[in-house]
Amino acid sequence: MKIEKGAKWVKFGLMENFMRDVFKGLGVPPRDAAVCADVLITADKLGIDSHGVSRLKPIYYDRIKQGIQLAKTRFEIVKQTPTTAVIDGHNGMGHVIAGRAMALAIRKAQKCALGMTAVRNSTHYGIAGYYALMAAKAGMIGITGTNARPSVAPTFGTENMLGTNALTFGMPTDEKFPFLLDCATSITQRGKIEVYAKLGLKLPKGWAINNRGEARTDSRAVLDELVAGSAALVPLGGIGEEMSGYKGYGYSTVVEILSAALQQGAYMKMLLGIKDGKKVPYPLGHFFLAINIRAFTSLPAFKKTAGNILRGLRASKKMPGAKHIYTAGEKERLAWLYRRNRGVPLNRETRKEILAMRDELGLKKYRFPF
Ligand SMILES: NC(=O)c1ccc[n+]([C@@H]2O[C@H](COP(=O)([O-])OP(=O)(O)OC[C@H]3O[C@@H](n4cnc5c(N)ncnc54)[C@H](O)[C@@H]3O)[C@@H](O)[C@H]2O)c1
Repeated sequence: MKIEKGAKWVKFGLMENFMRDVFKGLGVPPRDAAVCADVLITADKLGIDSHGVSRLKPIYYDRIKQGIQLAKTRFEIVKQTPTTAVIDGHNGMGHVIAGRAMALAIRKAQKCALGMTAVRNSTHYGIAGYYALMAAKAGMIGITGTNARPSVAPTFGTENMLGTNALTFGMPTDEKFPFLLDCATSITQRGKIEVYAKLGLKLPKGWAINNRGEARTDSRAVLDELVAGSAALVPLGGIGEEMSGYKGYGYSTVVEILSAALQQGAYMKMLLGIKDGKKVPYPLGHFFLAINIRAFTSLPAFKKTAGNILRGLRASKKMPGAKHIYTAGEKERLAWLYRRNRGVPLNRETRKEILAMRDELGLKKYRFPF
């Protein structure tokens, strides 16, 4: 992710405490506020700047204040078996709902080898990787996906129909960090476009299209056009069939189905967040799978094979000019090593948002180095 020249670095502890107090100030119970802050600060620690503190105001603070997301979470298990559960999140805090849903899947997998939970009426859960990592830390394979506001056009289409629909896998390895493939099923996702807009940068061609299928590169305008329905994001693989955009489109559709059909929740245009010109909740759906590795083989054996595969990939022949072949999860580890003594880089717009929230909530004890 690009970092603004002149960004101000703020220590993680300070930023996490601030975010926790902001959530509390909005009425989120203390224990839940700690979970929400932890998910956001984890994104910043791992270098996923599109989903950390930069999202605090637009995605959570504003939505709670607008009444389209509830600060107090009612986590209701509406149906369950020893290996599965359907959960209704009643438009509470997505991080809290998702954390509890993955914890439940893990508990079921501890007993029965597999656990899967499907959630409806949740809200934005932040980085999918947080929940996949919960399973990896418990010695399991974690898989999660979520639907999202409609943004992505199907192959040969121009209308924003599907969400950016993260599909994420976490697996333990014998290395210092787990395998973590944590990304959208579109070429990019809205959070990255928001960061480009905050930095005043143009989007690369091929990320977004207008209603005529032409490339759109004005980051600020694309955000508005996505809401208006006059632009759409492009699925992984790209526009049309030549670079197999239908594969990303297909994976996105898989996530859309798994995030709505099992739990009988909302999907596609039902997630617009606008009805009769008024803002309404985005009743998102998610799914979580925990696979207990010990039911298949010993955990050290799995970790070793996984590690060998990743090391083999990194040691393979490189392209001319390439310095390193990465495996998924490695850049996040490197970001953490680089940032751990520095903190979160804040661009000018995010700094302004932080000061505005601090002043509105009267959190006077917070003094920032900007
Ligand atoms: N909650 C939601 O609605 C939602 C929707 C979409 C995305 N997201 C989140 O947004 C975040 C970013 O998503 P994104 O699509 O922008 O991700 P991205 O395009 O930045 O890709 C990140 C993934 O690719 C891996 N990676 C990056 N470079 C690599 C390389 N050269 N070789 C091998 N692996 C490499 C990383 O380790 C990571 O797993 C994720 O945390 C995701 O969960 C959330």
